[in-house]
Amino acid sequence: MQRRSFVASCAGAAAVTLGRGASAGEELLAPTPPMGWMSWNQFGPEVSDHLLREMADAMVASGMKAAGYTYVCIDDLWQGGRDRAGNLYPDPKRFPAGIKAVADYVHGRGLKLGIYTDAAEKTCAEQPGSLGYEDRDAAAFASWGVDYLKCDYCFAPEDQETAIARYRTMAQALRRTGRPIVFAVCEWGPREPWTWAARIGAQLWRTTWDVRDIWEGEYNDDHLGITNIIDRQADLADYAGPGHWNDPDMLVIGLHGKGTYTSPKGWPPCRDVEYRSQMSLWCLMASPLHATCDLRTMDGLTREILTNRDVIALNQDPLGRQARRAIKDRHVEVWKKPLADGRFALGLLNRGPQAGEVRLKWTDIALKPAWRVRDLWTKEDLGTVRDTITRRVGSHETCVLLLS
Ligand code: GLA
Repeated sequence: MQRRSFVASCAGAAAVTLGRGASAGEELLAPTPPMGWMSWNQFGPEVSDHLLREMADAMVASGMKAAGYTYVCIDDLWQGGRDRAGNLYPDPKRFPAGIKAVADYVHGRGLKLGIYTDAAEKTCAEQPGSLGYEDRDAAAFASWGVDYLKCDYCFAPEDQETAIARYRTMAQALRRTGRPIVFAVCEWGPREPWTWAARIGAQLWRTTWDVRDIWEGEYNDDHLGITNIIDRQADLADYAGPGHWNDPDMLVIGLHGKGTYTSPKGWPPCRDVEYRSQMSLWCLMASPLHATCDLRTMDGLTREILTNRDVIALNQDPLGRQARRAIKDRHVEVWKKPLADGRFALGLLNRGPQAGEVRLKWTDIALKPAWRVRDLWTKEDLGTVRDTITRRVGSHETCVLLLS
């Protein structure tokens, strides 16, 4: 498939917004944050042809596809090795028919396929990485029908210059294949990819170490909870927009302590209200949405959280603005996201141990009176609110309001 050109169709029409990674005349690869499912958090090494096919089926059957989830992503540990000629191949036991067969199946369900590599000799799980083989690997991914590439940074040098050079090489290799492949940089934030990844051709970049299935952890690479991640993400709003997104890592919603690597022993897994807060905040922050729980067996509440269309619509809003934290007052935070049509979305987050009443004056967050307000989780229309809204917000809950 060729990258389609917009030049002819748009001449004289409204200008097409270009992300920093796209050049004039090209369609944006990720005009809104990518949505999908990734194998890592729950399944780790158990990734296989069988699992991927079942997950694609479940994505359709559960209503996830209809809600906007598109990419089925194979994370680390799919590899078998590199043959003498230098060609990367999948583990023949777990992918007996090769990756293209999986891609064909996924495409047949109207979905897209993601895969994983690393910008060094080895991946994080010590599989062959793509350093020195960028063109060859990119060509293989394209020939298999891959639509999305996550590129990790284990076993690579620490400096920023090398990271930029290596990711640029892979971005250019992907481009040369002629297939539109979303490129996801995963160096976790130390080299500030928000300042360069869009420029070298990536559509998203991880901003933090790996998320864990915990609400509040410690800021280190083993125990990063949902709140630690949002604190990291809060200052990066300027860098996100159509075609270029901050990626605060995957959704832990519905893992319930079952994540192979993601649910740390000795820590209580998130509660459902906390999972709902992750969904709320990731949507407000215009973050990529990659579910990671077992879609085949998820319970009704997990499905409800992952497929709340009103909340997803905020995430997919074409303006592509990442919410800013407008108020941080002890336990209570107010997140504010402008939307394309002049409306706003608000998140009222209670990080404290007790439920409480949040009273918010529009003028406190630089909004003029008055707004019609709808609660996107309870689905209540709250009527027209002139000056001050009052909501009871549970401990660790995020109330999401749409203001029109
Ligand atoms: C790193 C990444 C994770 C996952 C693993 C796979 O830790 O940050 O998201 O891809 O590697 O080994």
